[in-house]
Amino acid sequence: MKVGLFGGSFDPIHKGHISIIEGALKKMDYIVVIPSARNSFKRGRILNPAPYRYYMTVDAMEKFDNRVIVSDIEFSIPGISYTYLTISKLLENNYLNNLIGTKEDIDLFWICGSDILKSFDKWRNPEKILEKTTLLVARRPGEDDTFIDDIERLQNMYNTKIKTFNIKGVEAASSSLRDELVEKKIQNVVSDFIKTHDLYLEVNYLDYCSDKAIEEFYEYCISLYFILRRKRLLHTINVAIMSVKFAVHHNIDPDKALIAGVLHDCAKELDKEVQSKYSMEIGGPDFDVDKLWHGPAGVKYARDVLNVTDVEILDAIKYHTTGRPGMTGLDKVVYLADKLEPARTYDDLEAIRIIAEKDLDQAMVISINEFKKKLIQKKMEMHPLTLACLKELGDNK
Ligand SMILES: [Fe+2]
Ligand SMILES: [Fe+2]
Repeated sequence: MKVGLFGGSFDPIHKGHISIIEGALKKMDYIVVIPSARNSFKRGRILNPAPYRYYMTVDAMEKFDNRVIVSDIEFSIPGISYTYLTISKLLENNYLNNLIGTKEDIDLFWICGSDILKSFDKWRNPEKILEKTTLLVARRPGEDDTFIDDIERLQNMYNTKIKTFNIKGVEAASSSLRDELVEKKIQNVVSDFIKTHDLYLEVNYLDYCSDKAIEEFYEYCISLYFILRRKRLLHTINVAIMSVKFAVHHNIDPDKALIAGVLHDCAKELDKEVQSKYSMEIGGPDFDVDKLWHGPAGVKYARDVLNVTDVEILDAIKYHTTGRPGMTGLDKVVYLADKLEPARTYDDLEAIRIIAEKDLDQAMVISINEFKKKLIQKKMEMHPLTLACLKELGDNK
């Protein structure tokens, strides 16, 4: 059985990738698409965190039948995602056979665009890649003679045979995304994902954060992948980015906003009994309502499992559902980003998003009052901490 592996950062996956997959499908029985989890970090081209890129790829692959599989294997490999490591991990313990659902022997190919021919020998351990796979290189119409020269050079260099296949000519590089959207070089599902999560904006708010915070944030995104379902994970990442945006507008530490934002719901999908126990330990009886447990429980998880020690970050996690009197700026940006992140679809949030950029307290008052209306409809009472927060903010106006 022939299986092609197709790896990349897919930021985002575009029609150039799709055309490679369609071409390779004519030669392969199965294709496994592998979005990278950890790329070597470079300023200037800050990649979107792995879960955005992974789920965009999942959506883009829906149009294919089950011969195209998206793998999250790189989420489980510590350190930078090098191809040779990914391949050996896939071959451990029948992982790949189980993923595809076959006991047959697998003839493995590494699918790539012709652009890698010039750089393949600079990859980490190329000989190890070629020990286990055959390169299968996409050739676009009109690809010039250097294509053949490059293939021959690599074949001689590594004493290997390289296969090629033809694809339709779609030129699309992921560097100028807004242009690509305009030129429709990405699929509608990917475009929908980008709009829903407000990606590839003119301003990348991660640019305001330190390298250390960004790297921590990337790691948390990967850790949370294993404990939060898709929708909530994407929500938390949206909250992290929006928290940074508000922090930047209000001179609040963007690094702390990023980390508090991404961790605010980290305990939300823990077992309910565990949430309740953790909540009681950290928050006491004040938080003894199941919807509120995950705030204080998140403090326990962030502190004891993820080793977060910053008290301001832990407080912002603790109070993100209730608010509190004497809220810090960090508390407020996380509270508001949680309510206003781009994937939230209820109500018309755009007006309050704009207010939050200018006046956090006014946005807090509006947001809490909206919440109050909903509670009244449900004949429920507001939490004393939220009431106290509203009173304080209202009194200050
Ligand atoms: Fe929450
Ligand atoms: Fe949340």
